[in-house]
Amino acid sequence: MVISSLKLVEPDLLRVEQQLVQLLEQRGGVLKGPAEMMFRSGGKRLRPALVLLSSRLYGAQPESAISIAAAVEMVHGASLIHDDVIDDTDLRRGQPTMKAISGNRIAVLLGDLLLCQALLAVAELDRVVLVQVVSQAVADMTAGQIMELRYQGNVETQVDHYLRMIEGKTAALMEAGCRLGALLNHAGTEQIDACARFGLNLGMAFQISDDVLDIWGNPDKLGKPTGNDLRERKYTLPFLHAYQQSQKPQRNLVRQLLTQEPLETGAMQALVQWMDQNGSREHSLELAQRYIGRAREALLLTPPGPTRTTLEELLDYVMKREQ
Ligand code: IPE
Ligand code: IPE
Ligand code: MG
Ligand code: MG
Ligand code: MG
Repeated sequence: MVISSLKLVEPDLLRVEQQLVQLLEQRGGVLKGPAEMMFRSGGKRLRPALVLLSSRLYGAQPESAISIAAAVEMVHGASLIHDDVIDDTDLRRGQPTMKAISGNRIAVLLGDLLLCQALLAVAELDRVVLVQVVSQAVADMTAGQIMELRYQGNVETQVDHYLRMIEGKTAALMEAGCRLGALLNHAGTEQIDACARFGLNLGMAFQISDDVLDIWGNPDKLGKPTGNDLRERKYTLPFLHAYQQSQKPQRNLVRQLLTQEPLETGAMQALVQWMDQNGSREHSLELAQRYIGRAREALLLTPPGPTRTTLEELLDYVMKREQ
């Protein structure tokens, strides 16, 4: 178990794994093999855990929570397969990515297949609202990824735009996972919204920390390469902060470094040093901490107990994580 605070749901997460394998058996078609490989390669299983825990906040965990959690992890897996095509990444979860093994064309198709199979699995529960929540999340994630491509290469991207982009690409699915869990146990509207707000703010902090780790993290612990965002000219919060703090001569120097294609180690180090000097790591983590605070406030509106304590522990995990 990568996230130790998830002990409470460990047996159920194992059932989610089994469900995933079963879903792929039944619905994977010709892509069953590669899809299974993707899911067997691990991952933190944060999103399915959010589904399970959110349902448990409002009563006994219904059987349907397992299939919804599996479907949400499948949507996540599909988004990663597509993301590695978009970001041209060859390593994830310590293993070669689908695009590295089978090429971009198969990776695009496998991602599509998984997305549709996840939606079909949700539809089997015969509650339109569940399909709506998952479909909306997929639409928001896609819009977020499109926004990211639109801002790619623009050193003057507004922080507000960056925040809206990560809300779509990452926070939307965590929000949906929490909303689905609460919906499964027929919580009241205010409770469902509080739970969803928890997931949304957790997701914002999670992506900011991912962006910090892409610059200052350890690739061996992460299981994916670092420096990819800068190499791809995807300017995340630390960069945007440093740029805004800088005067014209420094900005010119930074733009000069970025003309290198590909970015060499020296240039990369100079950029990291520049962000260090501007306190951009600390600034980014402070903003992430503000989202954690909002998530904590939302959580206070939900019923107290061991489940809520586990969700609270997840907030600490997001800020301390190295993986
Ligand atoms: C990776 O998500 C994509 C982001 C939103 C940063 P995770 O870091 O949860 O990936 P896995 O599932 O643990 O591999
Ligand atoms: C997260 O952004 C994208 C998704 C939500 C799929 P990243 O592109 O930063 O994710 P990693 O770093 O490749 O996991
Ligand atoms: Mg990526
Ligand atoms: Mg990406
Ligand atoms: Mg990243």
